[in-house]
Amino acid sequence: MKILIKNGRIIDPASGTDNVADLLIENGLVTGISKDISPEKTEKVIDATGKVVCPGFIDLHVHLREPGFEGKETIESGCKAAAAGGFTSICPMPNTNPAADCLPVIDFIKNTATKVSLIRVLPIAAITKGRKGQELSPMGELAEAGVVGFSDDGDYVSGSSLLLNALLYSRTFDLPIMEHCEDACLAEGGLMNEGLLACRLGLKGITNATEEIAVNRDIALAKESGGRLHLCHISTAGSVELVRQAKAAGIRVSAEVTPHHLTLTEAEVNGYNTSAKVNPPLRTQTDIEALIAGLKDGTIDAIATDHAPHTRNDKLCEFGLAANGISGLETALASLMGLVHSGKLSLSLLIEKLTLGPQQVLGEKYQNIGNLKAGSCADVVIFDPDEEWTVDTAKFFSKGKNTPLEGRKLKGRVNTTIACGQIVYQQA
Ligand code: DOR
Repeated sequence: MKILIKNGRIIDPASGTDNVADLLIENGLVTGISKDISPEKTEKVIDATGKVVCPGFIDLHVHLREPGFEGKETIESGCKAAAAGGFTSICPMPNTNPAADCLPVIDFIKNTATKVSLIRVLPIAAITKGRKGQELSPMGELAEAGVVGFSDDGDYVSGSSLLLNALLYSRTFDLPIMEHCEDACLAEGGLMNEGLLACRLGLKGITNATEEIAVNRDIALAKESGGRLHLCHISTAGSVELVRQAKAAGIRVSAEVTPHHLTLTEAEVNGYNTSAKVNPPLRTQTDIEALIAGLKDGTIDAIATDHAPHTRNDKLCEFGLAANGISGLETALASLMGLVHSGKLSLSLLIEKLTLGPQQVLGEKYQNIGNLKAGSCADVVIFDPDEEWTVDTAKFFSKGKNTPLEGRKLKGRVNTTIACGQIVYQQA
């Protein structure tokens, strides 16, 4: 299959490309970028005039819920949501049931994904057996099975010696230990960001220190072990500063931030809005400014959605009982484009943090994704940076309709997603 994308603004941060040209895809690979490629013998020509053409996005952090919580999402529905959001590679977290802590579950996820979608599903395995924080999972055989990292996401590994061992052991396979940083003691009973609003709403707050204490300890352990630490969904100005200092000291640490922590504040929780209940909680404008600065100076490597789909009933209850999480794959690009339209982030930097940045966290093995170099895998997204649309969760491919963005007007829309040289999403 030969696909020619004509006349788009091709942005490929990996090669520093940003110009209007044509892009040719043959047999699942990018085979050329230049002006005026002839459409001869191409099965499909896509006119991308006025659109951005860039590498398919890589999401280091999603929840696909299968096995075990198929009412919230399945691998198939999650992959469709990814395609609609422009994501061609996604890394599902292991908080399934059973947890993804052993070969059979990892094999099940990979096999199911291959059957249902062309989206590349790169599983993350649990750090500890059953995600219970007691005993390491069989990391060696999981690494051999091709997992891209280890995480107990949803929970912090509070045992310091256990995490130190995980970091030491992970050096053997050079895979990241992806930590959910939250001091369990401080977090106890917390429901939203600590502050005046939490006080007014009568909800127990979660302080910035809850995250920063955990980030601090993990950085110390990364330093001691020489292992690769990746910090999931950092949300506070203090965490950004800790990562900045750790990087300056040469410690092997990387970090991701979510679209919601970059664009929404705790004010979303007003009215006890459970669709804005998420962990870590939405913070303040000061934190947002620091997170953006962290993206700009390279402290934060990647934007990852933490796509956390839940059922209606999981959220349709009192605030304290509602599940944490936001369904994010299908609104990520458009919500982030708000930062570009308001001049806070450049378009090329945004694309870098959705492509090259996460690819670098995955490592050399994945050099053929996240860029548009000739010979790379033809994972491509075409989007209109200026198209306005209104979020309507009834139209989501994800089973998770839980987003505070419902009904909101956003600017920037995915038109076409191509994975491995085949069209996997086309805007209706
Ligand atoms: O809000 C969240 N939801 N944060 C997490 O860390 C876990 C996730 C989930 O699995 O729903």
